[in-house]
Amino acid sequence: MKITGIIAALTLGAAEVSGHYIFQQFGVGSQKFAVYEHIRKNSNQNSPVTSLSDTNLRCNVGGASGASTTVANVKAGDSFTFYLDQAVYHQGPISLYMSKAPGSVKSYDGSGDWFKIYDWGPSFSGGSSSWPMRNSYQYNIPKCIPNGEYLLRIQSLGIHNPGSTPQFYISCAQINVTGGGNTSPSPTVKIPGAFKASDPGYTANIYNNFKSYVIPGPSVFSC
Ligand SMILES: *[C@@H]1O[C@H](CO)[C@@H](O)[C@H](O)[C@H]1NC(C)=O
Repeated sequence: MKITGIIAALTLGAAEVSGHYIFQQFGVGSQKFAVYEHIRKNSNQNSPVTSLSDTNLRCNVGGASGASTTVANVKAGDSFTFYLDQAVYHQGPISLYMSKAPGSVKSYDGSGDWFKIYDWGPSFSGGSSSWPMRNSYQYNIPKCIPNGEYLLRIQSLGIHNPGSTPQFYISCAQINVTGGGNTSPSPTVKIPGAFKASDPGYTANIYNNFKSYVIPGPSVFSC
């Protein structure tokens, strides 16, 4: 009995380690929505996107349309949270992007302009580095952006395996911003296109003489 229990525990442990992670739940303020409520449902389970030219870099595999996904109302300046099924466990930066839909966000494919609103990067101390590998990530909608429907995208770039292809873990929420302003966010980028194989933050070896880091993508927009 005891040995069976240990084997079961080991098997479960192995399954957890080989699995990855998904940003599967969204929240606004203190309200936490159901799994995939307001978040486009991906069809690749918890696998990453690894091609820099793949349109799935926008909103993950299966996330090109949000026809069956609802839209969350969020006031400009409000806090929002992306929750995961389990904590991020691949080292690398976490970034938040937004893109305004030309009309209804439900039918927007993310081919327009994206701007970045936040980055979580490494901290360096006493010759070692640590990454913010959490169960959830919270930030605020910029106060000055125009009202309207947006894709709100979170990305974890796994650079845990230097020399191997980095991994993008992505989800997009569909939001309707109210109470905003008149500022056009900049700089903007296209996805794919925003990340290049030559980006220092894409090729960094986080285990060897790792003392500084430049997060891939455009600079962060703030109001
Ligand atoms: C977005 O918010 C505005 C203002 O409250 C509202 O008129 C509109 O119906 C909302 N759109 C969606 C898709 O919820």
